[in-house]
Amino acid sequence: MLLHKHLTPELKARLDTLTTRHGWTLRKTIQSGLAHEDSQMGVYAGDSESYALFSPLLHPIIREHSGHDLSGQSSDFSLDGLPQDDLDPTGEFILSTRIRVGRNLARYAFPPAIGARDRAALEAEVVQVLSRLPGALAGEYHPLASLSEARREELVRRHILFQQADRFLDSAGVNRDWPRNRGLFHSADKRFIVWVGEEDALRIISMQPGSGLAAAFLRLKEALGQLDAHLDFARDSRLGFLTACPTNLGTAMRASVLIRLPYLSRRPDFHARCARLGLSVRGLHGEHSEPHDGIHDVSNAVRLGVTERDIYQRLRAGVQALMALEADARAAAARQRSRAG
Ligand code: ADP
Ligand code: ARG
Repeated sequence: MLLHKHLTPELKARLDTLTTRHGWTLRKTIQSGLAHEDSQMGVYAGDSESYALFSPLLHPIIREHSGHDLSGQSSDFSLDGLPQDDLDPTGEFILSTRIRVGRNLARYAFPPAIGARDRAALEAEVVQVLSRLPGALAGEYHPLASLSEARREELVRRHILFQQADRFLDSAGVNRDWPRNRGLFHSADKRFIVWVGEEDALRIISMQPGSGLAAAFLRLKEALGQLDAHLDFARDSRLGFLTACPTNLGTAMRASVLIRLPYLSRRPDFHARCARLGLSVRGLHGEHSEPHDGIHDVSNAVRLGVTERDIYQRLRAGVQALMALEADARAAAARQRSRAG
């Protein structure tokens, strides 16, 4: 765990007495890592100030995890000159495409630290802005507490709604007062979605059936342009968009495809191959879930030190390589079957 590697007794003594304006301390920063020995990082930020106050611990952890020197983070949502055609027009491999970014509001504590009154105020402020979105982005907000259990489960199964946070985030405090003042906003076609009060104050999501990565990207760009004009997002010139978990810093963007790779994924080096292509692998229902029927969630591994345009470009290239490898693995299996048979 990166926490154990970087928190020396001297550093602990130096940071132990510090508290941010929202009451975040070293003890709170590291409590999830101490509770879960299988953490990779083991730390969470309670607010923007956490990243400055606890930088002697957090920056080395972020540097090691991202491989980036924290020399500066810029944003670029242009797709000029890049291919925008569908990656898999016949739908042989790719079931759906999703791009999400995490955002927090500069004035508020992040979900691990926010108090009940501020959580309600933040929700009201965000819902106000969402309710004025124009055109295809327009939609409705559904407070989590208003959904029946059956409806909630259905929305989770359809990849539209979040669940209560995992044990790592739970130890960081994210589930306090659950499910109050959390909710789901979605456009009429459910292709534009905002999660309010999950791991970050906002998860802004664009979904597309099949392999329409450009369509998903351009919808997200348009939505962020609208939201950015009305909400003051927490941001830093070196760390980019500030998120509760340091793994999301930078662009805070995870662009993914649900892709069917039954032959390739059977090979023992599948995850290593994906890693070499700059891709992370999750299961059918996201983080900590299992693949089903050879279907995996494949997304960009790096969010910091790259632009949104880089993520688009690299995901396209990586997924194209995976589709070619899957076709090869399938052909090799067919040859083997015909030799055996
Ligand atoms: P996040 O992406 O927000 O960090 P998760 O990995 O838990 O968190 O994924 C959240 C939800 O998004 C899950 O239901 C997951 O299956 C769904 N999801 C991820 N990628 C895709 C995709 N390409 N198409 C459809 N649903 C997706
Ligand atoms: N605290 C977890 C760890 O250190 C976070 C892993 C990233 N996942 C997330 N949902 N932020 O391993």
